[in-house]
Amino acid sequence: MSLTDLIPQMLPAIESELQRHVARLDQPRIKPFYEMLAYHMGWIGEGAGPEATGKRIRPLLVLLSTASCGANWELALPAAAAVELVHNFSLVHDDVQDNSEKRRGRPTVWVKWGVPMAINAGDALFVQSNQAIMDLAKNYPSDVVVKAAKILHDTCLDLTRGQYMDLFYEERLDLTVDDYWPMIGGKTAALLAGCTSIGAVLGGTDEATIEAYRSFGHYLGLAFQVQDDLLGIWGDEALTGKSAASDLVEGKNSLPVLVGLGKKGKFAERWKQGPIQPEEVEEVARLLASESAYEYTIEASKQMTDLAINSLRTADPQGAAGAALFELAEKLLNRQA
Ligand code: IPE
Ligand code: IPE
Ligand code: MG
Ligand code: MG
Repeated sequence: MSLTDLIPQMLPAIESELQRHVARLDQPRIKPFYEMLAYHMGWIGEGAGPEATGKRIRPLLVLLSTASCGANWELALPAAAAVELVHNFSLVHDDVQDNSEKRRGRPTVWVKWGVPMAINAGDALFVQSNQAIMDLAKNYPSDVVVKAAKILHDTCLDLTRGQYMDLFYEERLDLTVDDYWPMIGGKTAALLAGCTSIGAVLGGTDEATIEAYRSFGHYLGLAFQVQDDLLGIWGDEALTGKSAASDLVEGKNSLPVLVGLGKKGKFAERWKQGPIQPEEVEEVARLLASESAYEYTIEASKQMTDLAINSLRTADPQGAAGAALFELAEKLLNRQA
C-alpha cells in the first residue's frame, strides 16, 4: 500500500468507530444530550464537517504504530476511538477550565449549553473511551486488552496532573522554563505517548520497541504543545479555530511567556502588573517577540521534534505506516492549525 492512501483509508474508519461508541447515548429521551456530544465531535450543528472534527492525530498515531509493527491496524480501531474520546473529553473540560469560547472554529460546548451540561458531556465522552478500550476484547487476548487499558488509565491520570499544574500555574509569578516541561508532559505528551505505546502493544512487538514508540510519542507531544503555545500567541485565529488572544488574556504560563519572564525586561514588567486586556494583546505579543521568545519557542519545538525522530528511528517502524509516522512528525512541526 502506498503512503498516500493509508491515512485516507484510516480516517473514515476512525470516524465510524467513534460514531459507534458515541451512539451508545443516541436514545429517544435524551436526544439533546447525544447531540451535545455529536456537536463537539464535529458531526452535527453549524459548521459540522472535517474542520469541526479536528485533525484526529491521536487515533492516527495508534493505527500507524500498530501497522508499522507489521500488524493489522483495523483490529486496533477500538483503541484509536478510545484515545480520541479521551482527547475530546479533555477538550470539553479544558474549554471550561480555560474559559475558551471557541474550539475548531465553533462555539464551545459550555458556551452553547452551559458549564454544568459541559461537565456532564465531557464525563460521558470519558466513560465512552473506557467502553471503547474494552471493545478490544473482540480482537485480542485479555492480557493484551488489560495492558492497553492500563496504559490508557495511567495516561488519563497523567493528563489530570498536567491540567492541575497548568491551572495552578495561572496564579504564579515565580515560575521558570524548568516548571514548564512537567506540566506539558502531563497535559499533552502523556496522551500522545499513550497512543504510540498502545499502538505498539497491539502491534505485538517486544518491550524495548514499545518503549521506543512511547518515547517517540512523548517527544512528539512536547513538540506539539510547544507549537500550540506558539500558535496560541502568534497563530492565525482563522486557521487554529481558537481565539488567538486567549492564552495571554487567561494568564497562561506558556513557554513564550516563561521565556519572556526570564528576560526580566519590558514584557516581564507588564505581565507582573496584572491581567493582559484583550485590546493590549497585539502589542504584548509584539513585545514578547522582540525579547526573542518567538525564536526560543521555535527552537524548542525543533529540538523536541529531533528527539522524537531519534526515538522513532530506534523503534524502526516498517512499511508505508512507518514512513507516514516520520512524515507526520515533520508535518506537525510546521503546522498552522
Ligand atoms: C489541541 O489538540 C489540544 C492540545 C493538546 C494542544 P489538537 O490540536 O490535536 O486538537 P484537534 O483535535 O485537532 O482539534
Ligand atoms: C491542552 O490544553 C491539553 C488538554 C486539553 C488536556 P491547552 O489548553 O493548552 O490546549 P488548547 O490550546 O485549549 O487546545
Ligand atoms: Mg488548558
Ligand atoms: Mg485550552
